[in-house]
Amino acid sequence: MKLLDGKICAESLVSDISKKVVGYVGSGLRKPHMTVILIGEHAPSESYVKSKIKSCASAGFDSALLRFPENITESELLAKISSINADPATDGLIVQLPVPKHINPQNIINAIDPEKDIDGFHPTNFGRMTLGQKAFRPATAYGICKLLQFYEIPVKGKHCVVIGRSNIVGKPISIMLSNDFDIGNATVTLTHIETPRELLLDETRRADIIVVAVGIPGFVTEDMVKEGVVMIDVGINRLESGKLVGDVDFENVSKKCSWITPVPGGVGRMTVAALMINTLMAYENNFNLL
Ligand code: GUN
Repeated sequence: MKLLDGKICAESLVSDISKKVVGYVGSGLRKPHMTVILIGEHAPSESYVKSKIKSCASAGFDSALLRFPENITESELLAKISSINADPATDGLIVQLPVPKHINPQNIINAIDPEKDIDGFHPTNFGRMTLGQKAFRPATAYGICKLLQFYEIPVKGKHCVVIGRSNIVGKPISIMLSNDFDIGNATVTLTHIETPRELLLDETRRADIIVVAVGIPGFVTEDMVKEGVVMIDVGINRLESGKLVGDVDFENVSKKCSWITPVPGGVGRMTVAALMINTLMAYENNFNLL
């Protein structure tokens, strides 16, 4: 079993980005700029946002973290998004999810200028990505592709099983792995909460690559996988003990894997790195550098 080390891969990608930024800034341009909106107090979001801001500094980007109280109204938030959309000093804008219950996340996602939508969640980007056109690709899914590419894991022609159909991870990664992209061309089965258990087992037991994003510690057990499987664990679950674990029973499943992502230090790091790639792309688009 070998580890797909998201830390090493992310550092390599961010280092390449920072070299490009040094060149751009040296030629007289301003730095790329990411704005992050964080609403209320949600411990996991605090930690994700912190790592995004930290990674901006490593990449040589400027960043701004805008905090709003839990009771901000949807219209106040939409007004704020609209002013950032109009601000030429911001290349990329993220609204950290989840938003409070009284705010409809789809309205927020739809309000972000697709040119600044570095999360790739806006219907324009999601649609373009699905059609194989140039787009901001959802960061976690894109990060997984970059990790597979970095470790030269063959994907073309392989049987991939995705567990979980969220708009953030399961749905986009199932599309990206099946598309005719540089990292893709796999045969993909998308399973979800309504997939009968027997069918799920049939699929996972013959999968070459499994991507699991369900948010349930230990969901994938040893009996569910074949020898030599490549396991991508997207889960980040904090146990009562304080320990962070993924959706895979790492100790037992890892013995059967050819490759597996650790938690922490796997996909989480790659999500942030992919966001940096998207932010650089937004900046390069802005300045016609591509
Ligand atoms: N919450 C969990 N993952 C994400 C993500 O990739 N982007 C945003 N904006 N919020 C999230």
